[in-house]
Amino acid sequence: MSVIKSIQARVILDSRSDKTLEVDVWLDDGVRGRASVPAGASTGIHEAAQIKDMDQAKHNVNTLASLILGQDPSQQEQIDRTLLSTDGTEEKSALGGNVILALSLAVCDAAAQSRHLPLFKHIQELAGLKTGSRLPTPMFNIINGGKHADNSLEFQEFMIVPAADERSFREKLMIGADLFQKLRAVLHKMGHSIALGDEGGFAPRLNSNEEALEILVQTIEGANYQPGRDVTLALDIAASSIADLTPVTYPLDSNSYYKKLISTYPISSLEDPLAEEDWQGWAKLNALIGSSILIVGDDLYTTNPKRLAMGIQQKAANAIIIKPDQIGTLTETLQAVRLAERAGMTIIVSHRSGETESTFISDLAVGTGAAFIKTGAPARGERVAKYNQLLRLEEFLQENQA
Ligand code: PGA
Ligand code: ZN
Repeated sequence: MSVIKSIQARVILDSRSDKTLEVDVWLDDGVRGRASVPAGASTGIHEAAQIKDMDQAKHNVNTLASLILGQDPSQQEQIDRTLLSTDGTEEKSALGGNVILALSLAVCDAAAQSRHLPLFKHIQELAGLKTGSRLPTPMFNIINGGKHADNSLEFQEFMIVPAADERSFREKLMIGADLFQKLRAVLHKMGHSIALGDEGGFAPRLNSNEEALEILVQTIEGANYQPGRDVTLALDIAASSIADLTPVTYPLDSNSYYKKLISTYPISSLEDPLAEEDWQGWAKLNALIGSSILIVGDDLYTTNPKRLAMGIQQKAANAIIIKPDQIGTLTETLQAVRLAERAGMTIIVSHRSGETESTFISDLAVGTGAAFIKTGAPARGERVAKYNQLLRLEEFLQENQA
């Protein structure tokens, strides 16, 4: 058994050039585990608190480090419990969700290496799920709006999703890459900007959300795929980031608008269609259209097992976004995954709009057998890194029949 020997924190940059935390955990067997923390722009109000003063964040890492030195890194739950009880607050405001997460994930990385296991395998053991390893189907955010772009599109993400069938991850990724490049040509021909938004998708100045959907359908057809069969559309409305949904859905109320929208376009998934506290609205919408598409809680749940338990009781959604930085420890992230799995919900592991080059979420998606992953467009290094790691994991699984 190896033990934690030393811990080092440093400040690095994320993809928006904001400062963020990276932590190295060294073991006495010479192994180094590493993790870094992404950041959202359209954050849910129930997310774990972040310490933005980086000197303070580093100081807090050192405070916590002294408590877990000498511990066995494979005891993830025990270590996370120590981190949580030292913070002592519900929202992790004393020491910071970002500080706690960097330590939690770096410990996990170190343990996997020390055990000579691929990271996803170690995560799979910690998760204790019956679902075997599987590659997630990617949801590619190829048109960016909302808080991720300076255009006027209210909806935050317009995604294309290859059919979640038996095809390999590699094939699905290549469909995404093909459509991304075709969309660039389509937008260019229409005279639109082909500059990229925060998540690597295009950020054209279109007249309406519907126009973005039309262009995507046209691009899919132009590439000889059948919309709705080969490739579907997914939206992240990020409703809590929209000041007022009324003019957006006018003259309909939001639920009637969404019902109409999914009958007009080949949409398979709606994320955060309503505000994060509108439990009743969510339950109504889920009852209305949840049998035909995914109703996905992101800001609604913030990867928080307690909020998820409330949502399950109220039948608020049938799918959940999993972002470790929303909750702050790996243990709680895996609790949320287990709870969602038991409730029969669809699991979507996700990046943040401000990302580092870390590929942890790729291993998390495979280790938890998540059905989907959201990690942006297949463009920009910090997004492509996650897709490329999934290619490696698929290759590993094919070679090892794991
Ligand atoms: P964020 O957006 O990382 O800016 O919060 C991602 C999302 O809402 O899914
Ligand atoms: Zn979202």
